Amino acid sequence: MKVKEKYYRTIWPNADNTIVNIIDQTKLPHVFEIAEIRTLPQMIHAIKTMQVRGAPLIGAAAAYGMALATLHLDDLQEAAKLLIHSRPTALNLRWAVERMLHTLLPQTHANRNAAAWLEAARICDEDVQMNRQIGQHGLNVIQKVVALRKTSTAVVNILTHCNAGWLATVDVGTALAPIYAAHDAGLSVHVWVGETRPRNQGASLTAWELAQYGVPHTVVADNAIGHLMQVGAVDMVIVGADRVTALGDVCNKIGTYLRAIAAKDNHIPFYAAVPSPTIDWSMSDANHIEIEHRASEEVSHIQGLNAAGHLQHVAILPAGSPAFNPAFDVTPAHMVTGLMTEHGVYSPAELKQALLPKISL
Ligand code: MRU
Repeated sequence: MKVKEKYYRTIWPNADNTIVNIIDQTKLPHVFEIAEIRTLPQMIHAIKTMQVRGAPLIGAAAAYGMALATLHLDDLQEAAKLLIHSRPTALNLRWAVERMLHTLLPQTHANRNAAAWLEAARICDEDVQMNRQIGQHGLNVIQKVVALRKTSTAVVNILTHCNAGWLATVDVGTALAPIYAAHDAGLSVHVWVGETRPRNQGASLTAWELAQYGVPHTVVADNAIGHLMQVGAVDMVIVGADRVTALGDVCNKIGTYLRAIAAKDNHIPFYAAVPSPTIDWSMSDANHIEIEHRASEEVSHIQGLNAAGHLQHVAILPAGSPAFNPAFDVTPAHMVTGLMTEHGVYSPAELKQALLPKISL
């Protein structure tokens, strides 16, 4: 993605593989700042505080965390454990760490560092490739939705949730990949961006990156979405996912389930864009997914730009009122029209049989 005409990925190593650069997402959309990560504890901190976030990106960040661990001769098993527990819900993080361990443990200590940077870079390149393929498969779906609808308007209105775009991956995005592909193909796309309380990833990140790409969009309060659907303003929903079960249940940012309920009630197709490292083939019961609970301050406070142009945190709850902050929810498979993967688009019912033979685990 380009930011002010310069191409960036969300994560990249320096030339001699000693430092990992990230875009600090806690400061967007107001401040575009690159942070340098030099040690495993710094990477764990960046993942926990959501300087890097989004399932595929925290996978890539964890892979580079392992590379930093080899650089400083940290215990790899211990590093893996710490990284896996830094955020529990997104499968990509565990997947990337286990892949790094699988690559590194058979190597001699002398070879581990070089092998680690190579493997982390491969994970990043594969992520970009998968997202491009999701974009193409998703574009076909958008074209079908346009062909089937009864209204004559040229604009296709797509609702998304949270940020499953370029910023949530290494590049391109998952849920936003079909939207970028449609925009590039000359379709007239408009995106409804739900603000996504409590951390406002929609308002702060999705709106920002859509603006960088020049995709028309409008931010709405989360509570406006049911109404938008009722008045016919939404043609389809595309969300990302942090973990999908083998049966096609979709665990994603808190509030996704409510959008799925509203979509079903209004006969609007509901899609999740899912690269295969997000699918937990070992899990059939979504009740077993660990839902991350984050700090109550994310609900009781909000960040914005003050009149002096500085980032500021302000309280929005009465002092002493408790707040509760579950970060993800599960949309049951029966509410999901389709899963857009790098190999094609599948209904939850056909996912395992159709996709599993095509991927190497
Ligand atoms: O808590 P976050 O911001 O890391 O949550 C991100 C999401 O829920 C995304 O929708 C999901 O990771 C898919 S990202 C391509």
